[in-house]
Amino acid sequence: MKFPHNDIISLLDERLELNLAESTNQDLVLREIWDASFAESLIDLKLEYGTSAGNEQLRSLLATKLDVHKNDLVITNGAVFGIFLSILCLCKEGDEVLTVQPNFPPTMDLIDGLGFKKKILKLSFEENYQLNEELLFDSISANTKLIILVTPLNPTGTVLEKDQIEDIANRLEEEYPNCTLLVDETYREATYGNHSVYPTCSGLKSNIVTISSLSKCHGTPGLRIGWLCSTNSSFLQDVKTAKMNTVISNSVLDEFVALQVLKRESDIFRTRRIHAAEGLRRMEEWIKRNENWIEWIKPQAGALCCVKLRESAFDEDQISAFYSKTRQAGIQIANGTWFGESHRIFRLGFGYLSIDKLDKSLIKLTEIVSEIVS
Ligand SMILES: Cc1ncc(COP(=O)(O)O)c(C=O)c1O
Repeated sequence: MKFPHNDIISLLDERLELNLAESTNQDLVLREIWDASFAESLIDLKLEYGTSAGNEQLRSLLATKLDVHKNDLVITNGAVFGIFLSILCLCKEGDEVLTVQPNFPPTMDLIDGLGFKKKILKLSFEENYQLNEELLFDSISANTKLIILVTPLNPTGTVLEKDQIEDIANRLEEEYPNCTLLVDETYREATYGNHSVYPTCSGLKSNIVTISSLSKCHGTPGLRIGWLCSTNSSFLQDVKTAKMNTVISNSVLDEFVALQVLKRESDIFRTRRIHAAEGLRRMEEWIKRNENWIEWIKPQAGALCCVKLRESAFDEDQISAFYSKTRQAGIQIANGTWFGESHRIFRLGFGYLSIDKLDKSLIKLTEIVSEIVS
């Protein structure tokens, strides 16, 4: 088997009622975007193959939104397929891919699975998961063909500023001209309330590839619609060939619904951002009330964050008890180990559940911990 087992698969296969492990905003229901003209066109949709680049209208809408050319975009089956295609098309035998840890598990496991050497730059809770550019450059070698950065980062919700990314790309261009920087922007628009959206790096430089999707911020992970953006036409040609040889095209039905999602995105964002802001507020209060046993790194975007069980409150047995008792109580928790972090740290998603259920879960968590640490 090329890919290691990771318990994050339980997020797909086992859904506990009090799900604090999810990283998305609230799931969208078709009813939210349904209207007469959508229904009218849907009924006549031809279920043919899509094109290798993906639905042209969809790419045009995305191009306007990202201020790039539609020919610089390829629609992918979720952002994860954009990562897969980028690694596959940019690396050859003996090449290295460098990324940060903690991270979205498939990003790390795809590198191994596709047979390339994985180099990891560890980010730490104690340093607020900040990226140190000098350490990043110390980790690069002549064989490093791809660097994958994620902003906002899963599981931490920490952000890399566009200037910092541009700086890294400029330095790469000078010092390692054969190395590409992949910027995973999957959570970019998952902000809170009226907080402004972080700018995209799409089209910023020829050595930058960006990927994103409709999964997290729009609450439509089941659509499996993402995109990859690059101004390197020969790379894009390779991407389309690789896509054709693996999945042929996207589902035209998914692409059709995605178009409607994008047309309605301001409404979709408004409700989800208000909800995420409220979730974040509840989290902040809860952390304050329980600071004897936990600490956190407050996220900058994304309805997710890392919470740490303090060394002063939890020994190893108590950490194990925490995971088994939360499970027994029907609370789903994302163990830090899923992301290459310590089990003392867990990811908590605060944008997925209704506020009532979030409150209920947090109260239960406090009860469980009081039992364990008393
Ligand atoms: C940082 C990051 N990138 C990419 C993905 C993949 O998302 P999708 O393939 O659903 O678009 C995820 C999903 O959790 C993620 O957290």
